[in-house]
Amino acid sequence: MSAPNKSYDPVEVEALKPEEIERMRDEALAAFESAADLDALTHAKTAHTGPTSPLSLANREIGALPPQAKAEAGKRVGMARGAVNKALAARLAVLEAERDERVLVEEAVDVTLPYDRTPAGARHPLTTFMERVADVFVAMGYEVAEGPEAEAEWFNFDALNFVPDHPARQMQDTFFVQDADGAKSDESGVVLRTHTSPVQARALLERREPPVYVVCPGRVYRTDELDATHTPVFHQIELLAVDEGLTMADLKGTLDHMVQALFGAGMKTRLRPNYFPFTEPSAEMDMVCYVCRGESVGNPDRPCRTCGSEGWIELGGCGMVNPKVLVACGVDPQKYSGFAFGFGIERMLMFRHNVEDMRDMVEGDVRFTRPFGMEI
Ligand code: PHE
Repeated sequence: MSAPNKSYDPVEVEALKPEEIERMRDEALAAFESAADLDALTHAKTAHTGPTSPLSLANREIGALPPQAKAEAGKRVGMARGAVNKALAARLAVLEAERDERVLVEEAVDVTLPYDRTPAGARHPLTTFMERVADVFVAMGYEVAEGPEAEAEWFNFDALNFVPDHPARQMQDTFFVQDADGAKSDESGVVLRTHTSPVQARALLERREPPVYVVCPGRVYRTDELDATHTPVFHQIELLAVDEGLTMADLKGTLDHMVQALFGAGMKTRLRPNYFPFTEPSAEMDMVCYVCRGESVGNPDRPCRTCGSEGWIELGGCGMVNPKVLVACGVDPQKYSGFAFGFGIERMLMFRHNVEDMRDMVEGDVRFTRPFGMEI
């Protein structure tokens, strides 16, 4: 007995039996109906209409059938696939509509909520701190004085007894705006002031007769690269007192008062000999470390990051006004004496508030400024 002739016996093709086709169709419809979201529907679509789905595989079998059987099977499979595609499209429409509705609810924005039309900025801590320092002196009767940032070389150097070849005049420290050769014969060159001390000379010349008590906060410039501890533009506060009978004891008392006003009761300063052309004698002033108050010195169990366990923090320079400066500014050094000091605000702000990188102060990011609070 020979085997049945498959090409003439469509019933032999299992996948094309009417009940098989119906089962495939119903399975597909059930899968679409039970797809809970669009992802699930995509999977069901691949499984029931993709190239390896049962209906697609059955469709491929049709070609091998005799003409009559081919037409019947083709119709059956075609109708089943049509029903499947229709059900898929219907379910897709439902799920998409559901998704759109959900998105509208979930991503809704309440446009009636009040909002900040002009977000409040914050005053930069350098500004508020400079004002606070100046206030300490204003409370003692000092006046706030200002001078130009593009300053005559004469005020920045000559009047302050810097000899012409003083190293601070050199290019590596000073930004020259116009050198003396380029100026008219009776004019000084112009520099970006390298310190606030030229305001000393300006104050003396403007006021003519002492007593002169001025405090000068301001921006100064030096040719430094911007890094964690340097910036080419920074701030200083200068103090100048010229009167009859002022001594170094007045200077020391004034410094002690300032650090107590800024850092708390019991703070002290110390002076170490130094040299500045415009003060004589000159000193470097330190304040006791306001964090460890000196207790970290020789005490390895209690190291202090703020002062590096030195016990002291360097603030700046000071001294008695050099009589040569008084003379250059028309003040009689026989009758008057004075003291002056100057220090950098950035440095002071850094150790007062544990700011580790100078660049944070320069970048102007309001997120740096806000934690310092609003001081008006
Ligand atoms: N101007 C000096 C500096 O920038 C500091 C100073 C000011 C020193 C006043 C003495 C008196 O380094």
